[in-house]
Amino acid sequence: MRADLTIVIPTFNERANVRPMLALLDAALGGIAWEVVYVDDDSPDGTAEEVRAAAADDDRVYLIHRIGRRGLAGACIEGILSATTPLVAVIDADLQHDETKLAGMVARFRADPDLDLVIGSRHVEGGSIGAGFTATRARGSEIATRLAKRLLKIEASDPMSGFFMVRRESFNQVVTGLQTQGFKILADMLAAAKGRWKVAEVGYTFRDRRHGESKLDAAVTAEFLALLVARMTGGVLPIRLILFLSVGATGVIVQLAAMRLALLAGIEPFWIAQTFGVWVAMTTNFLLNNVLTYHDRTLRGRALVTGLFSFYAVCAVGAVANVGVADVVYSVLPQAEVASATGAVVGALWNFVASALVTWRAR
Ligand code: GDD
Ligand code: MN
Repeated sequence: MRADLTIVIPTFNERANVRPMLALLDAALGGIAWEVVYVDDDSPDGTAEEVRAAAADDDRVYLIHRIGRRGLAGACIEGILSATTPLVAVIDADLQHDETKLAGMVARFRADPDLDLVIGSRHVEGGSIGAGFTATRARGSEIATRLAKRLLKIEASDPMSGFFMVRRESFNQVVTGLQTQGFKILADMLAAAKGRWKVAEVGYTFRDRRHGESKLDAAVTAEFLALLVARMTGGVLPIRLILFLSVGATGVIVQLAAMRLALLAGIEPFWIAQTFGVWVAMTTNFLLNNVLTYHDRTLRGRALVTGLFSFYAVCAVGAVANVGVADVVYSVLPQAEVASATGAVVGALWNFVASALVTWRAR
């Protein structure tokens, strides 16, 4: 019998949760023909091996094992695309979402052929954030939800949820516009659907995590803010470029501060203080990009050192391009600010592209 429902489970270091999750799904989905696709980003704890072992005992279990890539949104997208069933659910691997709600979600789709999406929500009747959240996390989630609703014009109560079921056909309408970097695939999907989808919500209580740890951190928060900007610019700018340019903006401030400090320390002539400022800013830009913009490929140990020097080299060429372009622009349009800003934009874009290809190239 062909399955009706594919359950996509993204994993990073969730080995201990694999078998318990499958047992819970089996108990919760009587009467529904289902299969499950784990999407694992080559977790160091051997989650993929554990899934393969489980698949040997259960032919409803599948695995997409990704090498050299990280990211929750991208993993969910690949899992959903792999599904051949009419319905697809996404649920966390760590037992924090309530799998007993899945059967009710399927029933909603069966009762309403126009329905595109059912969201597992913590903010409707029957839902709550339960014990799974610290006070800070709850507050952060609340602010993020409010921002997403206002800036992306989303009406659903819980666009931050990672638990939902979508009609496979409907997903095809939005998939090409989705950002693969980041955590918030549901908010991105809702924004891409531009209010055209028929959406229902089902309450659930967010449970405590028993094994392993959360991967949501400051970098994920920065990615979410970049997602909002990406969406507001109509999806033209990718998340990575937005993060890179934001880091660059902090670099301007760092450069000014370091230059001023050098002057205060009596360093002369001016050009040496300025060179010091540029060097400090390049270094902080590199370090920030390494943990934020490229937190899925953060360089460590020896790679950190060679990465830093390749970044210096990239920026040196960028500076030459900056000056060269500004000079050409100035020769045809003698307005210093316009010429200088054009040079800066070209230099920044060069730095972005070249450092993506050299410093943080995907391995
Ligand atoms: N393949 C893959 N790659 N999976 C990942 C990655 C990744 O880079 N990062 C996280 N995951 C998986 C985890 O293994 C887990 O199954 C799921 O994605 C959620 O990650 P957690 O680290 O447990 O996130 P959380 O519990 O802090 O956040 C959850 O709740 C939020 C609600 O505020 C997630 O469901 C979020 O999507 C949700 O927004
Ligand atoms: Mn979790």
